[in-house]
Amino acid sequence: VNIAIFASGTGTNAAEIIRYFKGHNDIHVNLIVVNKSHAGVFKVAENNQVPAILINKDSFYNESFLEVLGDYKIDFIVLAGFLWLIPSYLVKAFEHKMLNIHPALLPKYGGKGMYGEKVHQAVIQNKEKESGITIHFVNEQFDEGEIVFQEKCEVSELDTPTTLAQKIHQLEHKNFSRIIEKVMNHAN
Ligand code: GRF
Repeated sequence: VNIAIFASGTGTNAAEIIRYFKGHNDIHVNLIVVNKSHAGVFKVAENNQVPAILINKDSFYNESFLEVLGDYKIDFIVLAGFLWLIPSYLVKAFEHKMLNIHPALLPKYGGKGMYGEKVHQAVIQNKEKESGITIHFVNEQFDEGEIVFQEKCEVSELDTPTTLAQKIHQLEHKNFSRIIEKVMNHAN
């Protein structure tokens, strides 16, 4: 079965997922879909010889995009720092076959505009004692699909958005690939 990773940023999660599944018997990362022309994740794709394509809104919000995924024989989608709302045709085609990772404990600190630094800033501003990661299935709303996995970390008084982001990235890299594997094994 083949994964497409959708990403818009640096791609550290994408890199870790590719590393984890390299040489895997059944699961392959076949494609990276990117919506920003200068995203660091292009370098990750190049370094690992995974095909990467740049999409624009017109192509993404048109059902014919399914044909592109079909060309790469994609069975499962992983959102790793991808900021566009997923269109309904894609949610339906990949029901229970599309996961997102969010850098906080949903349902808190999710929704439109809650991404990256902004999440960590809000957590710190509200003096939360803990934050963490949420891995969830994707539906038509930002960050609202069924939760599959969460892990917490402590937020100390000394934490800044940068240090909290580092802690959260560690949790993401530790857990995301194995949860993807678990869900995929279950789905097939
Ligand atoms: C991660 O923190 C993820 O939770 C969020 O976007 C970030 C992507 O980071 N959805 P990277 O590009 O994988 O380093």
